[in-house]
Amino acid sequence: MKQIVKALKQLNSGVVLVAVASETHKANAFTAAWVMQVSFNPVLLAISINPEHISYDIFKEGRRCTVNILEQSQMNFASHYGQSGIADKMSLGTWVASSGGVPVLQEALVSFECKWLNEVAAGDHQVIICEVIASKVFNEGVAMLYRDTENMDGSAELVAGVDK
Ligand SMILES: Cc1cc2nc3c(=O)[nH]c(=O)nc-3n(C[C@H](O)[C@H](O)[C@H](O)COP(=O)(O)O)c2cc1C
Repeated sequence: MKQIVKALKQLNSGVVLVAVASETHKANAFTAAWVMQVSFNPVLLAISINPEHISYDIFKEGRRCTVNILEQSQMNFASHYGQSGIADKMSLGTWVASSGGVPVLQEALVSFECKWLNEVAAGDHQVIICEVIASKVFNEGVAMLYRDTENMDGSAELVAGVDK
């Protein structure tokens, strides 16, 4: 594995499922590691999303998402929601609609419901700044770390530019 790929995994991000819904699309969710808190007041999260993902257009239209933190043993969730275009994607797990109509994963450690505020272009991704409007702690446990997912996201093939 390239040093840069190994090094980036030490940034120590957790692994979440970002779920989205809108009036004209079926609900969807994708695995994400590039999610972080960026403000206390208001509480804001930044979510980095590849605009080619099916979830991006749904998120942009619906303007709402939930961020559901996975527990370290839930690799099957990370892997399932890390694939695009699979039939009946939302079939894994127990999803219940939030007050804003976005799916919330009952098996998650924690879930945040968020409202899209704005987006910033960042290379091959878009960073969406969202305000947290609700949160719920569902389960106790240890959060999954990005580095534990090894090359599940194909980053060894995707990282460009630095080859040291
Ligand atoms: C561990 C892991 C972390 C990932 N992190 C992100 C991320 O932060 N942002 C992103 O846009 N895609 C990320 N992905 C890729 C998406 O989950 C994947 O491309 C997914 O198929 C997109 O689903 P969709 O097209 O149904 O929206 C990650 C995948 C894995 C397995």
